[in-house]
Amino acid sequence: MKAGDIKKILIAGAGTMGQSIGLSCVTNGFAVVLYDIKDEFLVKATDSLNKKIDKMAANGMIPKEKAELFKNNITTTTDLAFAGADIDLVSESIPEDPDIKGEFFRELNKVCPERTIFTTNTSSLVPSMYADKTGRPDRFLAFHFHPGFKLVDVMGHSGTSAEAVETVRRFSELIGHSPIVLKQEKAGYLFNSLLNPWLLAALNLVSRDIASPEDVDRSWKEITAMPLGPFELMDYIGLETVWRITDFWARKRNDQNAQQSADLLKQYVDRGELGMKSGKGFYDYTGGK
Ligand SMILES: NC(=O)c1ccc[n+]([C@@H]2O[C@H](COP(=O)([O-])OP(=O)(O)OC[C@H]3O[C@@H](n4cnc5c(N)ncnc54)[C@H](O)[C@@H]3O)[C@@H](O)[C@H]2O)c1
Repeated sequence: MKAGDIKKILIAGAGTMGQSIGLSCVTNGFAVVLYDIKDEFLVKATDSLNKKIDKMAANGMIPKEKAELFKNNITTTTDLAFAGADIDLVSESIPEDPDIKGEFFRELNKVCPERTIFTTNTSSLVPSMYADKTGRPDRFLAFHFHPGFKLVDVMGHSGTSAEAVETVRRFSELIGHSPIVLKQEKAGYLFNSLLNPWLLAALNLVSRDIASPEDVDRSWKEITAMPLGPFELMDYIGLETVWRITDFWARKRNDQNAQQSADLLKQYVDRGELGMKSGKGFYDYTGGK
């Protein structure tokens, strides 16, 4: 399959990332199928996407007359067999857990055509962890987005075909992104390989009760003059995603400090304080922070 043959994309998981990737695909002329486990998530996602499309049309980012067409190019479903039929490319953005992702791809493989390329938007895992479950390891790779930015990582595992890598690299350009192709599989790609140890260091300072999130952020921002500190950034990313990543690697590496940080994050997740998207995380956004 060549990038020029791609017409229809399945976006699995209609959360933060699924919506963002779906928006890039549909506003660049591709048909999108949004799949999630509950109708209520799909209703919320469609509402949000429609508003974003309207806003893009109002700001001149897309032609006004195309807004309705783009909206009509989004189909939603909770039926996997329907979702997978006649799909050219899959972009998966479901929870950051190799078992959940592996199981999802195992089921998806049964309902997708042979030609379909599967991609995962994992932040911190690597495709080889669940490549076998996909039933098509040669057409499976990571296609990783950074919300709000054009940069994308394209990363195969040792069994991914060069053709699949090139198709996804080229496709990323067709949806207005700027790809980096990694030479080898690496958890965290390039940017997250730099970012994750920084977030973990910040979490360690708070979970060991050395300082408050506010003071850690203040110390970072005052000296670097950067707009966000690590806790503000984690609230932006979403604390459930940060918890899953921290917890997974803490367990895998048997790292007690990292586990303490994961447990701190879990307290927020259990209270439903997921960061900006829920109105509260390390900071309270209800008053408009
Ligand atoms: N949030 C970020 O900044 C970011 C950036 C890059 C990559 N990612 C990665 O993207 C993935 C999703 O993250 P997110 O922040 O969008 O999460 P999210 O919690 O906002 O969305 C996940 C969605 O997946 C759905 N889901 C759960 N199980 C499912 C299943 N079995 N099949 C289909 N849908 C299912 C949920 O209902 C939810 O709507 C993770 O792997 C994460 O690491 C996140």
